This record gives sequence, C-alpha cells and structure tokens, in this order.
Amino acid sequence: MQVQWFPGHMTKASREIKENIKKVDIVIEILDARVPYSSRNPLLKKITSQKKRIILLNKEDLADPAATRMWLDYFQREEGTLPLAVSAQNRKSLSRITPAAKQLCAGSRWLERRPVRAMILGIPNVGKSTLINALAGKRKAGVANTPGFTREMQRFDAGPGLQIFDTPGMLWPKFEDMHSGFNLAALGSIKDTILPIERIALFTVPYVTAMYDGELRGRYKWETVPEDPVRFIDELGRKRGCLVSGGEVDREKACFLFLKELREGKIGRISLERPGEERKVRGDGEIISGDGQ
Ligand code: G4P
Repeated sequence: MQVQWFPGHMTKASREIKENIKKVDIVIEILDARVPYSSRNPLLKKITSQKKRIILLNKEDLADPAATRMWLDYFQREEGTLPLAVSAQNRKSLSRITPAAKQLCAGSRWLERRPVRAMILGIPNVGKSTLINALAGKRKAGVANTPGFTREMQRFDAGPGLQIFDTPGMLWPKFEDMHSGFNLAALGSIKDTILPIERIALFTVPYVTAMYDGELRGRYKWETVPEDPVRFIDELGRKRGCLVSGGEVDREKACFLFLKELREGKIGRISLERPGEERKVRGDGEIISGDGQ
C-alpha cells in the first residue's frame, strides 16, 4: 500500500534545503524520541550529509528512558553525530544545544566572531515550532541581513552563540515505508484520517504488549494482558465502557481511547522502536477479522 502523505510540499522543501545548506555550519535534526527511525526524513540525511549534525531526540519526557539511551548511543557510535535527548517543553533540557553546536565547530576561526549557523530540520509534529519558540522566543529575523540565504528561509536568534535557520517548506515523512507510517499515525503525527484508526491501533498493540506488560497491567488493572490485539481492544473497550447499544464493544472508540492514552503518556513512557530492531507485523497492518482469527 502506497500512501502519499505530503506530495505537494516535497519538492519545495528539498529545494530550499539544497539551496541554503552550504550557508550554514551545522544541521540540527529533530526526531521524535519515541520513534527516531520512523520520524526521520529519508532524503534528509543524503541532502545534508556534508554537514556535522546535532540529533535532537525531542519529547523525551514521553519516551522510554532505556530506549532513548540506546538511541543516543546508536546516533553517536554508528553515525558520529552529537545526539541530545530533550523536551521542547522543558527549557532547561535545551540549554545544552548551544554548547553542543559550538563543540561541533570547535577549532573554526570564525567561531570567535559570529554565532554558529544551524539549519533546523524535522518532519511535522516532532516539535520544531515549540523548540524554536523555546530557544528564540520572538527573536525572529528575516534573512535579509544574512547574505546568501534564499528569501523563504527564516532566521531565529537563539542567544549569543547560535542562529537557527528554518525553512517553512514542509518536510515529509517516509511515505513509502508502512511501518513508519503506522508508527507516526499511532503517535498522532500524521492525521488519523489517512489510515483507519482500527488498523493503526491493531498495528501498535502487539509491540506495546510485548514491551510494556507491566505498564499495561498497571493502567488497565489487568492480571494478564490479552495477547491477541483484537481481544486486547475488546477487553479495554469493555473495561472503559466503549459500548454500542446491545452491549457490543464500540471498537473504533476503544481504539481511539487506547491511542489517545498512548500519545498522552497515560500508559507510561513508551517508545515504539529501538535501534536495529526488525518489526514483525501482520502484513501491512491489515485489520484482523472481528473474531480475532
Ligand atoms: P512541529 O512544529 O514540528 O509541527 O510541532 P509542534 O511544535 O507544533 O509540536 C507538535 C505537538 O507536540 C504540540 O502539541 C506540542 O505541544 C507537542 N510537543 C512538542 N515538543 C514536546 C515535548 O518535548 N514534549 C511533549 N510532551 N510534547 C511536545 P499539540 O497537542 O499539537 O499542541 P498544543 O496542545 O501544545 O497546542
């Protein structure tokens, strides 16, 4: 199944990045700490490969700390980047960004004369606006006084040591990879309307039950967490009163409730992928028949 998430914006964003990348010193790539692989733009690494980069694993407050540690290690060891786990909603965690940017440029003579110029990149919903706002507040400037950048680029002054350049063009997620699509949909980073809610939930339940048994038992007061995803949804629906007339479970409502609680961190701090993991899924997330067969 091929889903075109953001076809119209694709070319524009990549053109803007290509045109401006030479003018910056480093790249700051924002990923969702809960799904760093799925929230990574597939072409971005290629287009910006000549630049050193900081990887920001944002929303770390919602992610599983153990998984985040694995990802930090992976990005540092395997990719030679400078990864930081942050929460855009917690300014204190962002204070490490400017020193990290300077560290990447250490030894450059210009560093004493001007701030580090960083291009900030991230697919929608990873928290780019929240992050820029927390770093730079209202200190937004046009690029007119920074020669060489195209007019579309926006500049934000994040204190004395760092300037952030942002392209308003929208970056696109990995639309050819269904696993990533489902993971992003599970976390609400792409609209629920692109994929049916039941398929998203039934795709996500097996991973969550395999990795977060204790959290699920705690949240839903289960002695044993139902292994079968359809039974899981049905039992959750019954427990939470998601019923239609006649007492049947309103499966759509139950799926929605599960995903909402997952997204909001109500079940616990949950990550949906770890480095080097092979996801075992049912085909492309095909909905399982009503009786769980
Ligand atoms: P974008 O520019 O990359 O598209 O993302 P944006 O900043 O709009 O953030 C998307 C959603 O993620 C927002 O929630 C925002 O508050 C939330 N968010 C961003 N960073 C963090 C973080 O570090 N931790 C947590 N827990 N949430 C974060 P929203 O519900 O869409 O909007 P709102 O309720 O904040 O208005």
